[in-house]
Amino acid sequence: MCADQNNASSAKSQADAKTRVVIFDTTLRDGEQSPGATLNFQEKLEIARQLEALGVDVIEAGFPITSVGDFESVRAIGQELQRATVAGLSRCVPRDIDRAGEALKGCAHPRIHVFCATSKIHREHKLKKAFEEIIRISVASVKQARQYTDNVEFSPEDGSRTELDYLVEITQAVVEAGATTVNIPDTVGYAVPEQYGHIFAYVREKLPMLDQKGIVLSAHCHNDLGLAVANSLAAVMNGARQVECTINGIGERAGNAALEEIVMALRTRSDYFSRFQTSINTRKIYPVSRMVSTMTGLHVQRNKAVVGENAFAHEAGIHQDGVLKYRQTYEIMDPRDVGLPENKLVLGKHSGRHAFRDRVIYLGYTLDDAAVDKAFEAFKALSDKKKDVYDEDIEAILDQQLQADRQLWELVRFQVSSGTGVIATATVVVRDSAGTERMEAATGDGPIDAIYSAMQKATEVSVQLEDYQTRAITSGKDAQGEVTVQVRHHDRKVKGRGLSTDVIEAAAKAYLAAINRIKTTDARKAAANTSNGNDPPGGAAQP
Ligand code: KIV
Ligand code: ZN
Repeated sequence: MCADQNNASSAKSQADAKTRVVIFDTTLRDGEQSPGATLNFQEKLEIARQLEALGVDVIEAGFPITSVGDFESVRAIGQELQRATVAGLSRCVPRDIDRAGEALKGCAHPRIHVFCATSKIHREHKLKKAFEEIIRISVASVKQARQYTDNVEFSPEDGSRTELDYLVEITQAVVEAGATTVNIPDTVGYAVPEQYGHIFAYVREKLPMLDQKGIVLSAHCHNDLGLAVANSLAAVMNGARQVECTINGIGERAGNAALEEIVMALRTRSDYFSRFQTSINTRKIYPVSRMVSTMTGLHVQRNKAVVGENAFAHEAGIHQDGVLKYRQTYEIMDPRDVGLPENKLVLGKHSGRHAFRDRVIYLGYTLDDAAVDKAFEAFKALSDKKKDVYDEDIEAILDQQLQADRQLWELVRFQVSSGTGVIATATVVVRDSAGTERMEAATGDGPIDAIYSAMQKATEVSVQLEDYQTRAITSGKDAQGEVTVQVRHHDRKVKGRGLSTDVIEAAAKAYLAAINRIKTTDARKAAANTSNGNDPPGGAAQP
């Protein structure tokens, strides 16, 4: 055998000897619980496809009992994906479990994830149940879930604040009932690495049957103290073989552990985490991160590890000099390994359909030919107004495209007049999906307020504006402005995004997008009602 073959076979046997850490992505469930991050059906499906291409092992696609929308997206994702396991979340409530089971019917690799709070504070103040009762409900729920699939995960919610011996007891009980993964969440981001790691070591030491039966222990960390990734890695060092995380670390409150940080820590510090590997194709991290941030409207902070705009930028002269001489002096990761584009390709007026399509694929979108054609038209229209079209512009067009299919109302034209000492007045014309146009005028406290009042009249949908943000998505005088709004409609918060080289038009589109989202959800609920002959499920408390 030659030296090369020797090296190759020893590298292979080292890789074989490594333990795989299962990457469980919950961007579409816990991530979507970030305030204002609601995704529509198409967006969820597109993100799920990219997560599968990224190499994620388990995709938690939603919480089917909470809404018709969640049920439908879990079902569609479960039916489409062939490699990744698709999980649906469920409380320990029989109706929830049946709903999760139904949503996952026809899925190649289904998992039902049931959870029940176990900590003293949750037992006494939230559930008002004794621990014995919680064990009983949890065991019954795992057994019920097993009727739908033999892949059942159980989470003792607020596990990191649960008495250790109770954790051991419930873990043993749910495993005997059929759970194959037990997740110990740090629900409120309270744990610190050594302590969180110790929980895993303790449970494993007390329950040798976990290793014997191949039961996977899982970490799920929230970032309230900025420790989610550190805690997840401590869990891995102490026996966790699954980590639950989200793209860009989005999630409830301060978010969840960031997938890209965990994966790149395990990879970059493979000297330290030498026993572990993941199945993630790290070169796809950056495009997925961009897609999630575009679709959720949750922008990645500039200095965010791995995927932030500054993550590989060197400002200090000494650093620049060092990197030019030898990259590793100041860079611990190669930006190409996380999929950062080597050079910023700029398209423009003369770029053809082929170049545009290549860029769409590079950015990770899976549009069919008809959708690419539509997006290409929008690209051409933009390149008439704007000399250079960047990736950010194309992502915005594609995202608008995913929303456009669900547009009930379309903005035909608008006119505003405003100025110092005059009352702002707006006239808007919108068209519904049947082609009927409506024109309304209104005054307001400034041009945006006037447009929004006119739109409420024209669409007959009443909403309160709760948040309004604007930014330029690229640099330059001709940059497109992006407006993101959050509106309240009864007890629902809905987000809308609009984009244009004219910021007032972007604001109008964002508002209409939010109104369209409200109408689409209402229509879907009504359709589900008619076909089921009963109330759409809803009102389940989010964990
Ligand atoms: O944070 C949490 O406890 C959860 C559970 C449902 C796993 O999200
Ligand atoms: Zn969580």
